[in-house]
Amino acid sequence: MQATSIGKIGIEFDQRNNRVKGIIPKVIGKNTLPIVEEYLTHSDHLADKTGATRITMRFFSSHTSYDSIKELGKKFGYTLEAIIPFDGISVYYLGKNADDRKSDPSLLAIERKKALEIRRTLSKTEVTLGPSFRIERMADEHVEQLHELYRLTFTQYPFELNPQTLRSIMESAKVLVAINSEGRIVSSLVGESIEIPLENSEIERIRLVELSEAATHPDYRAKGLLSFLVRQMVETIKKDSSVKTIIYGEARASHIPANVILRKNGAVYAGTLEKHCLIESVRNIPEEGIFENLNVWYFQ
Ligand SMILES: CC(C)(COP(=O)(O)OP(=O)(O)OC[C@H]1O[C@@H](n2cnc3c(N)ncnc32)[C@H](O)[C@@H]1OP(=O)(O)O)[C@@H](O)C(=O)NCCC(=O)NCCS
Repeated sequence: MQATSIGKIGIEFDQRNNRVKGIIPKVIGKNTLPIVEEYLTHSDHLADKTGATRITMRFFSSHTSYDSIKELGKKFGYTLEAIIPFDGISVYYLGKNADDRKSDPSLLAIERKKALEIRRTLSKTEVTLGPSFRIERMADEHVEQLHELYRLTFTQYPFELNPQTLRSIMESAKVLVAINSEGRIVSSLVGESIEIPLENSEIERIRLVELSEAATHPDYRAKGLLSFLVRQMVETIKKDSSVKTIIYGEARASHIPANVILRKNGAVYAGTLEKHCLIESVRNIPEEGIFENLNVWYFQ
């Protein structure tokens, strides 16, 4: 199985999370809406065939298509869950869940209210790293320790976090770790990226970078470690500007610090993905079950 949070171009059945997941490499305009219909029909068939309880589709479109996409999604039973506005070709997230994979509406309302409150907090001008920590890019020697950190942090994750998957993430993504004075990894963040060639578009390619696998050892939380990693990650990704890049994170809606960090470090709230994936860790809001609602936050 694939070790990826971001997913692949095209439509696939993701068995572990029991969902159909898609990235459509096309820019949809008012005249090309039938393309979306084709993809939604195909996804519906795949969900019927596999028994998937969620379908989540991402595609690109201009702002002006907002109403038509929302309407079209509705016709097929989808909700327009989030939009990342970007340079004339925003990312649209359409989602649809089976009745037995829905969030309790009152808990979802609390989570949304919290996200909107956090949205109003100000970004920090700078973040500092305490003198007893250093940041490194993940290397082979870190695999075992990182595995231990994730084992301690997550009881469920969208894919298995084991030494093998961690090695494969290290090879394909940027992984930053914070190390304490005793040489232990105490915090970690992955920047996973995918380059998407875009059809029907003046922009030939776009790169999505998802900040994921964020974890800080329970004894080291609220010391600004993850904030520092986020800042460093975003700054280095922005420096490499050979391709137009959208940087975003999908934070567990039930876990306040995950959202606070993104907001305070400059990200903007883009919407909520309902019961998007299998993920379990400490919660501040008592969401139920093993699937989690995720808030999308993007960096400008
Ligand atoms: C999310 C997580 C990685 C944060 O790591 P961290 O190193 O403690 O994060 P930081 O110290 O940089 O930032 C936490 C921020 O949240 C704030 N915060 C924490 N709890 C809060 C609450 N209940 N209400 C408001 N703010 C809160 C802290 O004050 C801090 O902000 P500040 O730096 O302005 O003071 C850590 O809590 C964790 O490992 N959680 C479990 C795994 C997880 O859910 N990961 C995210 C998956 S989406």
